[in-house]
Amino acid sequence: MAVSRGGFSSRMGFIMAAAGSAVGLGNIWGFPTQTASNGGAAFVLVYLVLAFCLAYPAFMAELLIGRYGQANAVTSLQKMSRTLWQKRFAFVVGFGGIICAALILSFYGIIAGWMMSYAIEPLFLLANMQISADWVITHSLARNLFFTSVFMALTIVIIRRGVENGIEKWSKRLMPLLIGLMVLLTSYVFTLDGASEGLEAYLNPDVSRLLDPNLLISALGQAFFSLSLGTSVMVIYGSYISKKENLVTLGAQVTLIDVSIAFLAGLLIIPAMYVAQAQGVAIFAEDGSLISGSSLVFTVLPTLFDSMGGVGLFVALAFFVLMSIAALTSSISMLEGPVSYAVERHNLKRETATTVIGLIILLFSVVIVFNLSFMLDFVAILATQYWQPIIAMLCCVFVGWIWHRSELLAEIKEGNDEVENSLFWKVWPWYTKFVCPAAIAIVFIHSL
Ligand code: PHE
Repeated sequence: MAVSRGGFSSRMGFIMAAAGSAVGLGNIWGFPTQTASNGGAAFVLVYLVLAFCLAYPAFMAELLIGRYGQANAVTSLQKMSRTLWQKRFAFVVGFGGIICAALILSFYGIIAGWMMSYAIEPLFLLANMQISADWVITHSLARNLFFTSVFMALTIVIIRRGVENGIEKWSKRLMPLLIGLMVLLTSYVFTLDGASEGLEAYLNPDVSRLLDPNLLISALGQAFFSLSLGTSVMVIYGSYISKKENLVTLGAQVTLIDVSIAFLAGLLIIPAMYVAQAQGVAIFAEDGSLISGSSLVFTVLPTLFDSMGGVGLFVALAFFVLMSIAALTSSISMLEGPVSYAVERHNLKRETATTVIGLIILLFSVVIVFNLSFMLDFVAILATQYWQPIIAMLCCVFVGWIWHRSELLAEIKEGNDEVENSLFWKVWPWYTKFVCPAAIAIVFIHSL
C-alpha cells in the first residue's frame, strides 16, 4: 500500500469497496427487471455464464492495470506505454473512462435521489405528516433538485475522507447491512401468496430462449455495467490493493459477490411481482410485456407494501433504504475516478478536488433535472451503452496488445507465485487479447 496516496488497509476492505461499487441500482433494480422482460430463468442462466466468462476477464484487466500503475487510470495506462502514440492513446482511454464515470454519476444521482425520497416517505407517514409524505413521492422539480443534491452531498462527504476512512470504512459498514436486509425481505416475501409462481418463473429456464440475440446482448451489457467496467473505477480501486494480495482470487470473489447479490435481488423482486399480481396489481401490460422498469419499483412495490398493512411501512422503509445504500456505495466509486486524477495529476488537495468535481457533476445533474424527459435517457444510454463498452474494450486491447507479456506476468505473480502454472495464465492472456475485445465490439456494433 502506498501510504502517501492511501490504499485499502485490508483484503476485506477492498472486497467490500469493490463489491460496493459493483452492487448498485444495476443489480437490485436493473437485473430483476431485465430478467422479467427477457424470459425469466433463461436470462439468469445466460447472465451467469457471461458474467464469469467475459466480464470477469475484463474486470481482471482493469484491476491489473491499476495495481501495476499504482495511480489513477491515465497515469497507470501511460506507465505501460512505450511510444508517444501509445501514451496519447493511454490518455484517451484513461481520461475517457474518468469522464464516463462522471457522466454516469450525473444521472445515477437523480435516480438514487428518488430512492431516498421513497425511503423517507414511510417516516413522514409514521409521523402522521401526510402532506410531506405526498410531496416526497410526487415528481416535481423541487423534489428532484432537493434529493439529487442531498445524495450528491453524501457522496462528496464520503469521498472527501479518502480511501481508508471514507470508501473502505463506509463500504464495510453498508455492504453487510445491505445483504442482511435483502435476506430478511426475501424470506418475508416467500411467506406470501403468489411467491411460488414467481420462483418458478425465476428458476425454471425456457431453453428455447437461451440463444435469443436480444437476450444475449442485454445480459452482456448488464454484466459489464454491473461490474463497473470501462469507467476507470476498477483501475483506481486496483491501484489501492496491496502487492501482497492475490488479484486473481480477489477479482473472482468480487465477481461472485456481485453476481450473487443480483441473483438474490431477483429472488426478492420476481416473487414480489407475482405476490403483487396475486393481490390485483397490474404487472404486465396488455400485450403481455412487463410494465416499464421505473413504474415497477415506484408503483407496484409501494402498492405491494401498502397492502401489507402496518408492517408494510417498515418493509417499504427497509427496501428503499437498501436501494439508497446500494446506490451510495456505487456513487462514491464513480466520484473517486475523477478525484484521484485531479489529486495525482494536478496536485489538488483531495478535499478541494472532491468538492469542486462533485459540484460540477451536480450542476450537470441539475441541467438533466430541468430537461428530464429527454436528457435522462439520453445521458444514460450514451454513457452505459456506448461509452462504457468502448473504454472496457480499449482496456483489454491495452493489456492484450500493448502491455509486455513479461511485465504482465510479473504483475500477476505479485501475491500469486504459482500463477504461471495455473489455468488462469494459460487462458486469460489469450482470452483478453482476442475474445474480450471481439465480443465487446460485437455488442457495441449491435447497439449502434
Ligand atoms: N455497478 C454499478 C451498479 O450496478 C454501477 C456503476 C457503473 C458503478 C459504473 C460504477 C461505475 O449499479
